[in-house]
Amino acid sequence: MCGIVGYVGEEQAAPILLEGLSKLEYRGYDSAGIAVRNETSGDISVVKAKGRLNILAEKTDNGRSVLGTCGIGHTRWATHGEPSENNAHPHCTDDKSVVLVHNGIIENYQELKDKLVKSGYTFYSQTDTEIAVKLVDYYYKKTGTPLEALTRSMLRIRGSYAFGVMFHDHPGRLFAARKDSPLIIGKGETGCLIASDVPAILDRTRDVYYIGNLEIAELTGEEVHFYNIDREEIRKDIVEIKWDAESAEKGGYEHFMLKEIHEQPKAVQDTIGAYVHEGAIDFSETGLSDEIFAGLKRVYIVACGSAYHVGIAGRYVMESLAGIPVEVDLASEFRYRDPILEPDSLVVVISQSGETADSLAALRLAKEKGHPVLGVVNVVGSSIARESDYILYTYAGPEISVATTKAYSTQLIAMYLLAVQAAKIKGKIDDERYAGLLAEMGTLPEKIQKTLDDKERIQWFASKYANAKDIFFIGRGIDYAISMEGSLKMKEISYIHSEAYAAGELKHGTISLVEDGILVVGVLTQSALFEKTLSNMVEVKSRGAYLMGLTTYGNYNIEDTADFSVYVPKTDEYFTTSLAIVPLQLMGYYVSVAKGLDVDKPRNLAKSVTVE
Ligand code: F6R
Repeated sequence: MCGIVGYVGEEQAAPILLEGLSKLEYRGYDSAGIAVRNETSGDISVVKAKGRLNILAEKTDNGRSVLGTCGIGHTRWATHGEPSENNAHPHCTDDKSVVLVHNGIIENYQELKDKLVKSGYTFYSQTDTEIAVKLVDYYYKKTGTPLEALTRSMLRIRGSYAFGVMFHDHPGRLFAARKDSPLIIGKGETGCLIASDVPAILDRTRDVYYIGNLEIAELTGEEVHFYNIDREEIRKDIVEIKWDAESAEKGGYEHFMLKEIHEQPKAVQDTIGAYVHEGAIDFSETGLSDEIFAGLKRVYIVACGSAYHVGIAGRYVMESLAGIPVEVDLASEFRYRDPILEPDSLVVVISQSGETADSLAALRLAKEKGHPVLGVVNVVGSSIARESDYILYTYAGPEISVATTKAYSTQLIAMYLLAVQAAKIKGKIDDERYAGLLAEMGTLPEKIQKTLDDKERIQWFASKYANAKDIFFIGRGIDYAISMEGSLKMKEISYIHSEAYAAGELKHGTISLVEDGILVVGVLTQSALFEKTLSNMVEVKSRGAYLMGLTTYGNYNIEDTADFSVYVPKTDEYFTTSLAIVPLQLMGYYVSVAKGLDVDKPRNLAKSVTVE
């Protein structure tokens, strides 16, 4: 996930580009860059900087030192290639005849690169974007027209993209094209703009055009023309944006957390798409080979907070599906308990930020003991990513809200993929089951969306329970793992005391806390354990508890026991965490909103815990 902007008009472009990028920093913040054409000299200057946008702003005197009235800009969230000035956008051909910014992922970049290498192109970065700019250049040299160069390239590229492009031979003109990545075109008083998102242009205009999939826009300072992939001109109407600037940054959502909850179908889709190609898991990007899976005798999962809960859910899936014993540890405990790590084992460190101090220390300890480490990390180029022997990136994009939601969901996918691959290579599942599991995994984005569509019931229920003092979440097996995350979501943003209990453990002490009106949330997605957890719910109900039951469609007999029932779509029972967590995230969110709390920045918490 990256942010792109562009401006062509009467004013100096660079300050406008930097201003726009500052509104898109939530989309990526590991490097940034701009390219501006100086009309007097005819040259295009490209300035880039690693790190936050203010470094680029300092380097260019807030844009003032870069002259010209036509330019493009980019703020990067690394996908291919580490965060560095070299990999930062804009990317260009050696003679700067074509300069381009990109948001998205080009899936067939290797195939395109091989083709371009054969035609004599060389590459200076590790990005898929450099391949795009050189592909456009290749077709530009063949056809001589920007429009044909772009459409021909679009037909060759598989994946997602929003492009902003400048051609040296076409001064005062910007081109934009998109497929599956967001892009809008603005028409302002002094010029026209492109941007990944509305906030980047709201200071300059409220009049925008939405550019459709596989469409191209050609902008001058005064007008915008649109074309389809067959290069036929198409007409579009201006839409007036009515949002205020702050809500625009959150895509119209009240909080980043709610926005990120709604981004889960895409985050899950992107993570599956990164590793499942043509019906098979492809871990070549991670460095994990089939031999590693074949020889694997034990897995140690180490993480903190929600990432630890992913490990707990992962353990149930991996042990049951692949028959590999799994130990899950809190990183802060693992690092000090002198763990005994058996040979032929893999240590898996899960971390969204890749900077959590305890998780990093656990990684270093495992390596000191001579054990290979697989990092499951969201932030490219972070410490855990750099120090891991193998790296499985999750594709959640930047997560702003302190309480994790979409990163957690992508980490779950990483666990499923590891378990399914291990099961296949170890011969625990046959080809049919393997294909069935991957097909079912592919339906999760749509099923998460369906769960999100039901959110109003949760909102109503949450407002009713906003004044609760204590909440218990209970479940068995995978449902216990779901309960742990549901409970953490609740307590960290709503400040209500909540605990997760293995349902069978309740009567060994905790049940004495149950009194009239206390809310107990029972999670029952596992058919083999349904009756067992239900009995535990009956036990607390008879002591006065108010019961919420969370189960899958079809288990309607839950209503005989629960006072309020929530259903999620059916899926393979190994994957139910991905669906059942969504109502619990929403519940935590809506309780926090009902209490008027700072949802995105709960007290005492930080997004990245870099101290132990
Ligand atoms: C809870 C939450 C935290 C993180 C934990 C680990 O919503 O976000 O519990 O999961 O601090 O952080 P990472 O994944 O960055 O290592």
